[in-house]
Amino acid sequence: MKLAERSNISPSLTLAMNTKAKEMKRRGIDVISFAAGEPDFPTPDHVKEAAKKAIDENKTYYTPASGIPELKELVVKKLKEENGLEYSIDQVVINSGAKHSAFNALAVTVDEGDEVIIPAPYWVSYSEMVNILGGKCVFIETREDKGFKITPADLEKAITEKTKVLLLNSPNNPTGAVYSKEELYHIAELLEDIDIFILSDEIYEKIVYDGREHVSIATYSEKIKEKTIVVNGLSKAFSMTGWRIGYTAGPKEVISAIGKLQGHSSGNPPSISQWAGVAALKSDCSFLNEWVSEFSRRRDYIVENLNSTPFISCSKPEGAFYVFPNVSETFGKEFNGYKINDSVDLANYLLEYGKIATVPGKAFGVDGYIRISFATSMENIEKGMQRLKDALTI
Ligand SMILES: Cc1ncc(COP(=O)(O)O)c(C=O)c1O
Repeated sequence: MKLAERSNISPSLTLAMNTKAKEMKRRGIDVISFAAGEPDFPTPDHVKEAAKKAIDENKTYYTPASGIPELKELVVKKLKEENGLEYSIDQVVINSGAKHSAFNALAVTVDEGDEVIIPAPYWVSYSEMVNILGGKCVFIETREDKGFKITPADLEKAITEKTKVLLLNSPNNPTGAVYSKEELYHIAELLEDIDIFILSDEIYEKIVYDGREHVSIATYSEKIKEKTIVVNGLSKAFSMTGWRIGYTAGPKEVISAIGKLQGHSSGNPPSISQWAGVAALKSDCSFLNEWVSEFSRRRDYIVENLNSTPFISCSKPEGAFYVFPNVSETFGKEFNGYKINDSVDLANYLLEYGKIATVPGKAFGVDGYIRISFATSMENIEKGMQRLKDALTI
């Protein structure tokens, strides 16, 4: 029996590298993983306590498919106080992780043949989501010397009559680029009178460095807010990747359609996680300062080390917890019997010979780079950087 066309999905190279690294570890090989996409800090205790309490109080049944009102109200409050965005409760839907938020937002906006503009490098799942839905990805290649950011001019060239959605992700995975308010507002200015949705993935908003400030493009004007779908969640800010709580805020008709879609597909996000989410959003978030300063310390150490590693150069990320070094000078060279032709060869060589797991740039739509996550201990980072240097010294 033939499977549906939409089942033709590329496996995630990020997960593939992680799986390969885990398999090597299982065989007793000492692999250091820089492939993780999740904070290495435990979920805060008060959040865990709230989940235990929810179980004890039997809050273990179906909830409304679009999420419990208590959590939605806190999301509304958060968006107002932290992002300067006013929404009513029916403009917010709770999803099972931000990946689910992004997929559902695309599912209710993208028709077969519609174009979705995606600045590259991009998070691995965006392009596959668009493909699954029968949409067409239109990539805008950004440049390292321009901070991996698109400009209004780039965007203007990419927009056609078929454009339905622009995907924006700031702070960015994998580059760590953070759009300033000015940069975003220039883009917003161009889009004010253009009839497309902006899907703004703000999942890394809390992880920004050197005094930078995260800004949502939806704050530009009421007109822009009416076409922006804000995607966010608790995974990265509260170290709750396994709990699966994301949320979406935007125009009423989009949010209502997502609620109905969930009603017939996933159902509600896990009830216990939603109650844990209530505790998370009530936190004073002081722990975040510590996390961010620890990430910042690791970032500085890694960037300095990478820039003294042969054949590698690395610019400093402005947010998130990844560096995206340029490794194109390794291409065409041979290291310890391994011929390197692209970022996949390099990531495989680094894993097999160097015993360090990274993710090839190809997974994010650009060759010439690899992604190194610094959501791992300083001890691992020190060891891993030495292994990288050893592997690339000829
Ligand atoms: C840019 C981006 N958006 C969304 C997500 C998904 O987050 P969640 O774990 O909440 O589904 C990730 C996770 O890595 C991400 O990097």
